[in-house]
Amino acid sequence: ATGERDLPQELLSLIAKENHVSSLIAAEKLGVDHQRVVGAVKSLQSLDGFIVAEQSSSKTWSLTSEGQMVKDEGSHEARVFRAVPEEGISMPELMKLVPANIGKIGVSKALSSGWILMDKTGGGVIKRKIPDVEDTVQHLLEDLSQASEAQKADLKKRKLVIETVLKFYEISQGPNFSLNITKPETELTAEMLSSGSWIGKSFKPLNFEAKGAPVTPGHLHPLMKVRADLRQIFLEMGFMEMPTNNYVESSFWNFDAVFQPQQHPARDAQDTFFLSDPEFARDPPLKYMEEVKKVHSIGGYGSQGYGYEWSEAESRKNVLRTHTTAVSARMLYRLAQDGFRPARYFSVDKVFRNETLDPTHLAEFCQIEGVVAEKGASLAMLMGIISKFFGKLGMKEIRFKPTSNPYTEPSMEVYSYHAGLGKWVEIGNSGVFRPEMLRPMGLDPEVRVLGWGLSLERPTMILYNIDNIRDLVGPKVDLQMVCDSPLCRLGRVEN
Ligand code: PHE
Repeated sequence: ATGERDLPQELLSLIAKENHVSSLIAAEKLGVDHQRVVGAVKSLQSLDGFIVAEQSSSKTWSLTSEGQMVKDEGSHEARVFRAVPEEGISMPELMKLVPANIGKIGVSKALSSGWILMDKTGGGVIKRKIPDVEDTVQHLLEDLSQASEAQKADLKKRKLVIETVLKFYEISQGPNFSLNITKPETELTAEMLSSGSWIGKSFKPLNFEAKGAPVTPGHLHPLMKVRADLRQIFLEMGFMEMPTNNYVESSFWNFDAVFQPQQHPARDAQDTFFLSDPEFARDPPLKYMEEVKKVHSIGGYGSQGYGYEWSEAESRKNVLRTHTTAVSARMLYRLAQDGFRPARYFSVDKVFRNETLDPTHLAEFCQIEGVVAEKGASLAMLMGIISKFFGKLGMKEIRFKPTSNPYTEPSMEVYSYHAGLGKWVEIGNSGVFRPEMLRPMGLDPEVRVLGWGLSLERPTMILYNIDNIRDLVGPKVDLQMVCDSPLCRLGRVEN
């Protein structure tokens, strides 16, 4: 039933009557534990000006568990005294009559108080020295207020009492004292202002220390975060972003312009998505198309070409671009047409491949591509730029391995040592673009173009510790993953 009591209300009534009361007295008067009165004081303090409560403290004495035992059953010495019979008793016998923790101290206290004596003549017999005793220690513990300071000090020395500091409140009426606890308003609303109902209301003070409610902002997908970081790296290195806003590309720009023969297996429907509507592209520039046709079928610029019957219809077939090198080709062609100057281009955007889906392959993914066009650019320069680029991504150990691409010679796969996996992993592909690709565009023979490409998903999966690409992209993505993923984890290092 005490749980249903309204202690703050009862305390208010008490203060109204007494004007001034200490929480200790209040606890006594209300018949509740002091801690509960302290709780009521705290809740009344949150009401503006209801009460004034000043904290105070006093030292009080309280019984230890041993003191409680003495209070209940008598002091050690009294218990020993009572165990000694009229005719006396031997020490070993006496020890059997009192509990082990009482005997020794009891005997020595009783001896020094002159309550008992040791009769050495009879072979060590304990006898009463006086007929009766008064157990003052027990009486003092029954009512500690009777004890003098010296007695208290003595009891403390015997570890029967301890001194504790008791915190309590001196409570009196505050300037807004009232018996009616009205919950103060927490907010001043526009409605209160217009109706005037705010007048006479009390308001809860604002807590400027309070932490704000957690915000629920939007979150960038890990791929977006890594992309933003990559873009920053390219910009730091002086690269310009290429326009990649066309997913549909003609086979001409996607394959022919980059000297990929029309029989190349990548141009199969098994590997590439072809469009049925519109099936063919109109945009390839005719004069340039002628040059591309020549280099494929009969060669030129010191190359034999592939020596096959090049088909314009095949070249006009629309595809979903399979690599962003199609965009690089457009950009390099335009650079040649506009009058060559050194250029550095990059892009990060989607490409599409007719892949068998598995934990590391999707039919669409993002490709990162970098291109450097400069007179006299070299393979060594490409290796330097790639090392620098991946170094900024936090991949310091880089290795190159020869490979082949239709559009580059030499070509190199890029590997990085992955400390977590404990092995070298392929992170990209690169090379020096072939004259068969560059010369038909109208670029000078001294102009060298370097390029490299990689997927955005691979490094993101490594950085975010995701081992199935479907946890990163697609309909099965857990949106919570997007919210919980850290801000940015590229391990960027300035260099
Ligand atoms: N296009 C290549 C790929 O899809 C990447 C690359 C770009 C290679 C430029 C060499 C030069 O893997």
